[in-house]
Amino acid sequence: MQFELSEEQKMIRQAARDFAQTELKPGVIERDEHQKFPAEQIKKLGELGFMGMMVSPEYGGSGMDAISYSLVMEELSKIDASASVVVSVNNSLVCYGLEKYGTEEQKQKYLVPLATGQVIGAFCLSEPEAGSDATSQRTTAIDMGDHYLLNGTKNWITNGSTASTYIVMAQTDAEKKHRGINALIVEKGMEGFTIGPKENKLGIRGSDTHSLMFTDVKVPKENRIGDEGFGFKFAMATLEGGRIGIASQALGIAAGAYELSVQYAKERQSFGKPLADHQAIQFKLADMATEIDAARLLCHRAAWLKDNGLPYAQAASMAKLFASETAMRTTIEAVQIHGGYGYVKEYHVERLMRDAKITQIYEGTSEIQRIVISREVLK
Ligand code: CAA
Repeated sequence: MQFELSEEQKMIRQAARDFAQTELKPGVIERDEHQKFPAEQIKKLGELGFMGMMVSPEYGGSGMDAISYSLVMEELSKIDASASVVVSVNNSLVCYGLEKYGTEEQKQKYLVPLATGQVIGAFCLSEPEAGSDATSQRTTAIDMGDHYLLNGTKNWITNGSTASTYIVMAQTDAEKKHRGINALIVEKGMEGFTIGPKENKLGIRGSDTHSLMFTDVKVPKENRIGDEGFGFKFAMATLEGGRIGIASQALGIAAGAYELSVQYAKERQSFGKPLADHQAIQFKLADMATEIDAARLLCHRAAWLKDNGLPYAQAASMAKLFASETAMRTTIEAVQIHGGYGYVKEYHVERLMRDAKITQIYEGTSEIQRIVISREVLK
């Protein structure tokens, strides 16, 4: 068993760490406050090869492994989870699915611009009445011969207005239930495709979340990913990898709050000595460090399984479940350690606490992760 990262993985981690400090940190409070999308930063992340990290160089990607992806997600998320969710969705839910299941034409037309960071992608599964219960798709894609006629609404779509390429799950044959769902590539600007107002969120406020409306949108047949009726399996298989990304995001949020807490505990004096000399604080830091380490090991194990072509659904769900619960607990404690300063924006930990919450909700709630894990356990 090898616990040491390779030299290349360490270099990639350092590049992400440097980027987070120099490019993400300076405007992060303002972007959060004004719900400003990190457009410039995402462009630069594309130039660094971080928008198509695991995509083969043949399609414009960086050909990195999933462990490197986890490392990058952790480092970016320590500073700015609004930026890292854009990276995660583009890499895991859009590029990965297109590379694995798309046709050569789809890869040339859609994957190359996405992997090189020229455009951003979105993954559209959730609906007003189909969140966790993802098989209950109400959006329809009626087979019209050479195209599908797409009608319906998608909710809480990350990169909703900033994306150019959308992968939309829709029901073609209701009698077949989830086996009648298709995954379709929809382009921004297609007639009948409209974008609803931006959601005003608790956390990850710099990211761009919208409802999307489709009214008689004609989607060419060649834009279907995989065989007829493959859409639900496509979504589930893609989400497995996505869960490694969000687990690593949660890990980064926790690690960011922990690092700030250690620094603050050493600097801040109370009752005549640094906070760090009080056992009440030492115990909190010890618990944080232990949980963060455990979360990191779970993330890296899931990524390692994926890199080695082994089943990783259960491992990814375990990583996401534990890392997101760790992010919530750690950030709450980080605010507590910072006292009154923790409750104001300049000290960053209140934002990390707000950002942590979404990691227990998107790409499957903690309850969904428990369903995935328990099914494997009880098999
Ligand atoms: N890979 C491939 N196929 C899979 C699969 C996987 N990991 N998991 C399930 N399937 C297949 C099953 O084999 C089954 O197919 P067959 O019937 O043909 O054998 C089919 O999918 C249905 O599976 P289930 O019977 O297990 O379905 P279910 O209704 O009981 O629910 C679930 C499964 C795990 C609860 C699923 O609905 C789920 O994951 N829900 C959560 C959805 C989710 O994560 N949404 C996130 C939205 S995206 C997002 O948040 C992105 C963002 O913006 C950041």
